[in-house]
Amino acid sequence: MFDALTRPSDRLPPLKGPKREAAERAMRRQWWPVARSVDIGKPQGAVLLGERLVVYRTASGKAVVQARRCPHRGGDFALGQIHGEAIACPYHGWQFSSADGKCTHVPSLADQSKIPPKAAIAVYPALEKWGHVWTVLETPARDMYEIDLWTGLDLEWLAGSPLDSTTGVAVAIENFRDVAHFPFVHAVSMGPTPHVVDPLKVRREGLNIWMERLLTASSGDWANDGDCTMIYQCTAPGLATITYDYEKLGKRIVAGFPSPMAYDHVMIFWGVANEKSYKGLSLEECLRIEEMVYREDLPIAGALEPREVDWDQSYVEHSVPADLFTLNYRRAFTEFVAGAAADGGAR
Ligand code: FES
Ligand SMILES: [Fe+2]
Repeated sequence: MFDALTRPSDRLPPLKGPKREAAERAMRRQWWPVARSVDIGKPQGAVLLGERLVVYRTASGKAVVQARRCPHRGGDFALGQIHGEAIACPYHGWQFSSADGKCTHVPSLADQSKIPPKAAIAVYPALEKWGHVWTVLETPARDMYEIDLWTGLDLEWLAGSPLDSTTGVAVAIENFRDVAHFPFVHAVSMGPTPHVVDPLKVRREGLNIWMERLLTASSGDWANDGDCTMIYQCTAPGLATITYDYEKLGKRIVAGFPSPMAYDHVMIFWGVANEKSYKGLSLEECLRIEEMVYREDLPIAGALEPREVDWDQSYVEHSVPADLFTLNYRRAFTEFVAGAAADGGAR
């Protein structure tokens, strides 16, 4: 049985065009999350822009991202085992170093000096931030994201369950940022919210876009938490955050990091953080409510046509002032692509 998104006659045509190609090339030079830090005690499979990866933590505590296919007969390292600083294939047990990817042990060989000298797997850079493991497929065009707003805050992070969404990165970020959909998509989690969007206060500098709003939920789970300013900060291409600054309670955060499994299909990694001194709901409760909001978005965002912003503009779109944040994000995304191409990365 097919659902609405997989029925063959309902499949959307893939986006094409030179700007799409440039965007995808630039995205290969960007840091993306590929696993939650809490999960990598066991090898985790991931897909990033079509590359199949395995993510795990070695005995010494180092997060590792490597190619997932074993070069012996194609075993899947996501089903493998961690051996000290190496990973073993589940099929015939060949082991590969986490440091340089070289094969270090072949159990079927009596003489380990006979290991095929070229047997190795690709190793990608790995870093951990905000409860997730991040990697980049090619030379990074930019440093890893930083949010100055959070500097000096004593935060505790909790990573949410990754959410599979049939959208591209830009559409996922725009959905997170969009405020005009609240009364139509989030009536349950947010309660009644106004249809009319007051003029948005949006500011952009390079790849960063900011917007401030007052929390307008009039009922729902957050209703009794008092006055709160929501500071939206987004960094192109793939970081969307809200810092909730409550007059009486302190600060809490939700951050979304859609990661492109394919150009038009993301795994949304995300998390929440509270100041350790935060006097409102527990971190777990904040996570539960934010997840409810995300899950309200998934069916609507996942059915948009096209699934990713059509940078080559073969689709008609009309915008209104409530789309101001989105339009600024698109400028930032375009700047990101141009910057990655300009420094010689367009391979
Ligand atoms: S397929 Fe991996 S060890 Fe044989
Ligand atoms: Fe939403």
